[in-house]
Amino acid sequence: MASSTSTSIPKPRLENKVAIVTGGAQSIGECIVRSFVKHGAKVVILDVKDDLGELVCQDLGVEFVSFVHCDVTVESDVENAINATIAKHGKLDIMVNNAGILDEPKLSILDNDKATFERVISVNLIGVFLGTKHAARVMIPKCSGSIITTASICSIIGGFASHAYTSSKHGVVGLAKNVAAELGKYQIRVNCISPYVIPTPLSMKFFNMDENSSVYSNLKGKTLGPQDIANAALFLASDESEYVSGHNLVVDGGYTVLNPAFGLFSLDKIES
Ligand SMILES: NC(=O)c1ccc[n+]([C@@H]2O[C@H](COP(=O)([O-])OP(=O)(O)OC[C@H]3O[C@@H](n4cnc5c(N)ncnc54)[C@H](O)[C@@H]3O)[C@@H](O)[C@H]2O)c1
Repeated sequence: MASSTSTSIPKPRLENKVAIVTGGAQSIGECIVRSFVKHGAKVVILDVKDDLGELVCQDLGVEFVSFVHCDVTVESDVENAINATIAKHGKLDIMVNNAGILDEPKLSILDNDKATFERVISVNLIGVFLGTKHAARVMIPKCSGSIITTASICSIIGGFASHAYTSSKHGVVGLAKNVAAELGKYQIRVNCISPYVIPTPLSMKFFNMDENSSVYSNLKGKTLGPQDIANAALFLASDESEYVSGHNLVVDGGYTVLNPAFGLFSLDKIES
């Protein structure tokens, strides 16, 4: 006789949860939205790209996903969007700070201007601070919540992207650790996800590549995609990670733990 567990349908991992995803109108954020809905969550997309955000809502069903125009650098926008989520759904369980930008590649710091540096910090770090602050405002009274920020491998290594971007991504990991320390007493978890390269408008422009460009992977034959990041977000959003806080989950196939230029497993030895 088959056991009862062998025939049972797995429970959706985010059943009855309410989530916000900033930068959810396209690319990695959109994939997180789709995965969260698939696993039973109600999702609110916060983005500046209204047309793309509304398209995702129409495609997934307006009963599951809604869109609120929000520039994450504007505190009143973030505050209003979180208030609108509470008005619609009565609570906020999961906050994903995913919106981000990347400036132009400049090979010398002397060519970096202050206004561009401030713009990147404003979206990537101050935007995450505002999202975290206003999510915490509504999560603290409930003593529950999961706050997740899309950082980058630029949060732990240098020399991969611009000075501003690298600074902003190191910054959000520091912020997540500090807020995790503060909010543990309210059972609110705060974590980051740090992806390697995924071809999206943000990365393709910077690295001058297209969707089909081949990118070095330490995991031979495997390519990182948005679903890998959505899977990491699902884990950190769900109760499966109930004892994980202050963590930076690096999703890079091992890229940042090796230097393929020289060493026992260096590229020239592997390829020869
Ligand atoms: N693509 C990669 O290789 C990669 C690697 C590591 C980390 N990341 C991070 O992943 C996140 C998503 O990046 P992506 O590659 O999907 O980029 P993307 O440019 O395709 O999407 C970013 C989304 O953020 C939104 N956004 C930008 N500024 C905003 C603002 N001020 N307010 C609200 N929304 C805003 C955009 O409209 C867009 O929908 C970013 O934080 C990025 O730094 C990307």
